[in-house]
Amino acid sequence: MSELKIIVTEDGSHSLYNADLNETYHSFHGAVQESKHVFIKEGLDYLKSEQSLKQINVLEVGFGTGLNALLALEWANENQVEVNFTTLEPFPLKAELYEQLNYAQFISGENVHAKFLELHRASWEVLERQGKCFSIFKTIQRLQDFNTENKFNIIFFDAFAPSKQSEMWGLPVLSTAVGNLVDGGVLVTYCAQGQLKRDLKYLDMEVQTLPGPPGKKEMVRAIKLKEAE
Ligand SMILES: C[S@@+](CC[C@H](N)C(=O)[O-])C[C@H]1O[C@@H](n2cnc3c(N)ncnc32)[C@H](O)[C@@H]1O
Repeated sequence: MSELKIIVTEDGSHSLYNADLNETYHSFHGAVQESKHVFIKEGLDYLKSEQSLKQINVLEVGFGTGLNALLALEWANENQVEVNFTTLEPFPLKAELYEQLNYAQFISGENVHAKFLELHRASWEVLERQGKCFSIFKTIQRLQDFNTENKFNIIFFDAFAPSKQSEMWGLPVLSTAVGNLVDGGVLVTYCAQGQLKRDLKYLDMEVQTLPGPPGKKEMVRAIKLKEAE
């Protein structure tokens, strides 16, 4: 595991800096701001309004700091929608690192830091319930090796940037990801590169380029077309 350092992003929330990759886990302009915008507003809120699902299966690529899982947990409770959250992470964080992360300060709700720690302390490779509306399955796997019979309504594609981890954004890995979606399923990501959009179209996705979070011009939401479309 490479050396990781806590940094403070522009909205005051923490992120991590990976010295080997010279890369951060979130936008420097604001970690919480970015995650709320890309994955919650343009992801879960969109899915709820468009498809009125009572249960949403989420696949996250990269558990990392656990920020997206925490936001999804709070969203599930607020919206009273059952969220089954599966998350892949080949390099789990050490407790001394995640225990210091300050996300609870930016998220309203009761005992948010305790819930955040519970998400991290949940066993790997075991499905665990966390409250009334949320379950989490954390697995120490790379997306490239992930094999499941489950289908997902939404993928939080939160890999390191294409310039740092290009293999995650190539057609073979994207195809694995998209293959795990139901028809009408959605992939959201902070990245809006032309090649990514072309590849997603090639994989029969409808690609939407949306305004990004503060400091980032654009992001992508892609919807898996139904076979007849
Ligand atoms: C940009 S960070 C985002 C992490 C997380 N979503 C967060 O908010 O902190 C990318 C994450 O992907 C993980 N990762 C690296 N290679 C991966 C792979 N092959 N499959 C799945 N995740 C991977 C990294 O360890 C890191 O935690």
